[in-house]
Amino acid sequence: MNASCDVPVVLTSDSPERTIEIGRSLGAALQGGEVIYLIGPLGSGKTHLIQGIARGAGVEETTAVISPTFVLVNEYFARTLGLELYHIDAYRLNSPAEFEQLGFDDLCRPDAVVLIEWADRVLSVLQNVPAIRVELSHEGPTQRTLVLKNISPAIRAALTR
Ligand SMILES: Nc1ncnc2c1ncn2[C@@H]1O[C@H](COP(=O)(O)OP(=O)(O)OP(=O)(O)O)[C@@H](O)[C@H]1O
Ligand SMILES: [Mg+2]
Repeated sequence: MNASCDVPVVLTSDSPERTIEIGRSLGAALQGGEVIYLIGPLGSGKTHLIQGIARGAGVEETTAVISPTFVLVNEYFARTLGLELYHIDAYRLNSPAEFEQLGFDDLCRPDAVVLIEWADRVLSVLQNVPAIRVELSHEGPTQRTLVLKNISPAIRAALTR
């Protein structure tokens, strides 16, 4: 890996729409096989970012992108990139063991991307999984900071152009 990949990309968003826009850029630069951890407190914008990622990857506007509630994993097809997106919200899991029972290993495929909100809650299970890490924090009512780590050169270029 290029040494520059270790330098985090730090972005600020001043609106929900801007966070979705950042997600779009990230989503359009995905290749397949990525696992993305979204880490940040309640209301920091994890789901908004995932909405953008899904749209950028080509999930149709008519498909609702919301956190899974009745199922543990939401699945969307990203037509443009020809990828399945799996959206997990670990906040809704009762334990890391429940996460293991999801069949996570089967979701990690070259033709799929796995998005995990509250990944920090299941890190004990995820220990050896290489992943993009997005840390979100509140700076004000509509201001958020996003710190992206372990991203590919293509994603870095898409986010910083
Ligand atoms: N710059 C911003 N980016 C994203 N959301 C913002 C921003 N400013 C304000 N918001 C608001 O913050 C909330 C973010 O909600 P969202 O569901 O994306 O957060 P979340 O991190 O997924 O929360 P949860 O932990 O409950 O799943 C929304 O109400 C949104 O309108
Ligand atoms: Mg959420």
